[in-house]
Amino acid sequence: PTAIWLDCDTGHDDAFAILLAARNPDVRLLGISTVYGNASLDHTTYNTRAILEAIARTDVPVYAGSSRPFSREPCYAPGIHGQSGLDGTACLPEPTVPAKDDACAVEAMYRALSAQPEGKAWLVATGALTNIAKLFMQSPGLADHIAGLSIMGGAVGDKFTSAPMGKLKGEGERFGNHTPYAEFNIYCDPEAAEALFANPRLAKKTTLIPLDLTHQFLATNEVQIGLLGFAGKMRGMPTMESVSITRRLFFEIVTFFARTYSDVFGLTAGPPTHDPLAVAVVFRPELFHFNAQGVGAGSSDGQKAQRRERFEVQVVTDGEHGTANSESTSQCGRTLVKLLPPGSEGI
Ligand code: BDR
Ligand code: CA
Repeated sequence: PTAIWLDCDTGHDDAFAILLAARNPDVRLLGISTVYGNASLDHTTYNTRAILEAIARTDVPVYAGSSRPFSREPCYAPGIHGQSGLDGTACLPEPTVPAKDDACAVEAMYRALSAQPEGKAWLVATGALTNIAKLFMQSPGLADHIAGLSIMGGAVGDKFTSAPMGKLKGEGERFGNHTPYAEFNIYCDPEAAEALFANPRLAKKTTLIPLDLTHQFLATNEVQIGLLGFAGKMRGMPTMESVSITRRLFFEIVTFFARTYSDVFGLTAGPPTHDPLAVAVVFRPELFHFNAQGVGAGSSDGQKAQRRERFEVQVVTDGEHGTANSESTSQCGRTLVKLLPPGSEGI
């Protein structure tokens, strides 16, 4: 199995990323660090511990990381994830195992990853990039040691867009989800994202999972119902009582997420499965297709294409932060990409 360290801000889709990393035989989950984002650090850390409790993986160590970005105020996403970051379910168990305090999160990540053989372990980030940027600032050599860094973040936008999120006020398409231009994880700490994307030691091994891709993997009604595990097992309409509490938990998580995506973005086909894709790409790269038209779902030669084509990614770091509404004209947190010539080292 592939060794993974997961850094997340546990909200609805992060919960599925944890499930995928913690209960898949192809993955060995080394540990989880948490970051502010979908809600405050206290909430995201609590949610992480509760999800591990629900899926019987309390042996996975949890470390609470950064509670705010490098140089800005923290921003949260209550409109999508609720005040707790994981609203909408009555099935979340109370966590029994506290977060670890024998090291800070960045140190714990370093220890776990550097203890793995060279070129083997992956770091997966599904929240703001503050912890990850601190890690490589403090331990630059770790970039040469890890197998890769997989990030859910960014909205590739005008160059390669395949699934814009609607029209910008006045003109053009909307690319971002938190502002018209910016995806939430990058928007939260654009300075951290820029530091990582500008690091040449990481460029060779960074995989970005932007909105353009995640909007091609929707958790449709069928997928949501599938979580209840009825398929092929029962005749007639089963009752909720016949469904395990863990299945109900994940069903309620996905249906809450579906409702907010429908209310906020008018996306009625189902919510995008953002965060679990950043885990999936590590051990099932053949599910993804990367080419000059952008990243996309499914390909027979996905693995080859992924190795061949690379991008330069820049983050807009100037501009105001804190006016996250559809009228905003600030481009802060926008990701700008350029396709590099074949053989180049890039994201
Ligand atoms: C990202 O933002 C968060 O709200 C989600 O958990 C996901 O990581 C999508 O833009
Ligand atoms: Ca997330």
